[in-house]
Amino acid sequence: MPSLSSKLKVSLEVALALFAIATASANTTDTTDDAPQQPTIVDYTTSEAGNPFVDGWYADPDTAIYQGLYWVFPTSSYPYEEQTYLDAFSSPDLVHWTKYPNILTTQDVTWAKKAVWAPAPAFRNGKYYIYFGANDIQEGEPEQGVIGGIGVAVADSPQGPYVDAIGKPLIGTYNNSAQPIDQDVFIDDDGQAYIYYGGHGHANVAKLKEDMISFDTFEDGTTFKEITPNNYVEGPQMLKRNGKYYLMWSEGGWTGPDYAVSYAMADSPLGPFYQVDGTRILQQDAAVAKGSGHNGVIHVPGTDIYYIVYHRRPLSEDAGEHRVLCYDRMYFSEDGSIQPVKMLVKDNFDDGDMVGWKTYGGELDPHVVDNKLEVKSDTEDGIIVALDANFTVQTYDATIILSDSSNDVTTSAGLVFRVTDVTSGPSGAKGYYAGLSTAGRVLITILGGDGTTVFVEGVDIKAGIEYHVRVSATEDGVNVFVDDFESPVLVLSDTTYTQGTNGVAVFNTEAKFDNVTIAEAT
Ligand SMILES: *[C@@H]1O[C@H](CO)[C@@H](O)[C@H](O)[C@H]1NC(C)=O
Ligand SMILES: *[C@@H]1O[C@H](CO)[C@@H](O)[C@H](O)[C@H]1NC(C)=O
Ligand SMILES: *[C@@H]1O[C@H](CO)[C@@H](O)[C@H](O)[C@H]1NC(C)=O
Ligand SMILES: *[C@@H]1O[C@H](CO)[C@@H](O)[C@H](O)[C@H]1NC(C)=O
Repeated sequence: MPSLSSKLKVSLEVALALFAIATASANTTDTTDDAPQQPTIVDYTTSEAGNPFVDGWYADPDTAIYQGLYWVFPTSSYPYEEQTYLDAFSSPDLVHWTKYPNILTTQDVTWAKKAVWAPAPAFRNGKYYIYFGANDIQEGEPEQGVIGGIGVAVADSPQGPYVDAIGKPLIGTYNNSAQPIDQDVFIDDDGQAYIYYGGHGHANVAKLKEDMISFDTFEDGTTFKEITPNNYVEGPQMLKRNGKYYLMWSEGGWTGPDYAVSYAMADSPLGPFYQVDGTRILQQDAAVAKGSGHNGVIHVPGTDIYYIVYHRRPLSEDAGEHRVLCYDRMYFSEDGSIQPVKMLVKDNFDDGDMVGWKTYGGELDPHVVDNKLEVKSDTEDGIIVALDANFTVQTYDATIILSDSSNDVTTSAGLVFRVTDVTSGPSGAKGYYAGLSTAGRVLITILGGDGTTVFVEGVDIKAGIEYHVRVSATEDGVNVFVDDFESPVLVLSDTTYTQGTNGVAVFNTEAKFDNVTIAEAT
């Protein structure tokens, strides 16, 4: 029970947060709405209900806060000819997402045919804007009459329908060698709007007029100012925090595993940026995903809470366009620098879905019921429901609730880890399984090979009870903890398998799983 002083502290913090919200609305920055409705303050370490946070192939997300909701506007990630539309997503809490299909399609933009990319939202004068790239024009092509580049569309509501605002590209040429794609629109505290953009290794910034559909010039008379940092490839994103300007961008090739995000800081939206080589903050992780890049940022208004929203490629996917939407917490250090982002692996199923999990073996489909993953198997062959991960030395936590009491030792439910060859389910898989059985056992099975099982008997395991199971897989073996994380119930010294994916498994019974967390052990 919290003490009285901690209750007081909590209400003081709430009051301070409300005060911060009230004062933050004087002049909104970036693409935040002026509307009074503030979103719910969400304080997570990652997408606690699982990454990817929505289903489907999407990339290049940018964000906005409109009408008290968090919005994400991504590219639809398919072959160029099929990229003829944009979908959007909104959420009150970054957990439950509503999809708005076809907020903008090439039918509403006469000159756009394909490759509709990287929507950048902005709000001004009661209108919602989407800046987008289309047609993937190449250097020299505009001079031959090829039309394409960065367009601007406008709507009366965040979910559209958006219509072409000017009937032609806003930027339809290469200037300073920058391909006209990958735009970001940023409105500074003084009301000046900027567009940052550029592919093919060059980044430009330009000043947008108050009308948001035409340009102002800089003092030297130019429209496009080149601000390309070293290693820049594409995907610029401007963020302002405590008076400092952060230019974020993507490096590496978008189809490869090494796509990554770097940033540099400046005292002005036009630079110069202090670290011309940038500091890399997001990249692939051999345990989690590859090709992590092209980011947006969510700043929770009135707080110092930031999330980096980005796309990445699941480990087992190789097609360039197989990209998914994810977010993780982005922390700042006291000196204002951005700390490297750790892509965390969690799922509490609070979004009511199991996006990111796949089912192997078994005849019964698992579901999420009451924010828990419910998995059933009618046979001793069992079923595996697994993520697309590749952890080695790890701590794997989950809550397991067995549904039926049975004294049959063939019934059990538990966690699989360091698993490969999972396609046909438990019978063909290689890896480890740590399970609980209402027949009074905690067990570890070495899947594949001779299927060695070790177990302890006489453990009081009941149906309907939440057991917090922790697997600690080290370089020497496997430790299984149940509720007590000081002393393992079962230890197996075995190093047959050193890496592979994580999941849950059920044999000849039914169980529910919750609060999955997998972390590399250091
Ligand atoms: C951009 O580049 C095109 C093509 O070279 C050129 O005609 C145009 O004047 C440039 N625009 C500006 C504002 O510099
Ligand atoms: C808000 O922006 C306007 C320009 O749009 C500027 O004149 C004013 O000083 C700004 N107010 C604050 C509190 O920053
Ligand atoms: C899994 O990770 C290990 C070590 O980090 C690596 O050697 C291996 O190639 C990875 N396997 C897959 C399928 O990504
Ligand atoms: C999952 O975690 C949440 C938050 O810590 C907690 O409230 C809930 O009881 C947990 N559920 C289970 C089944 O462990």
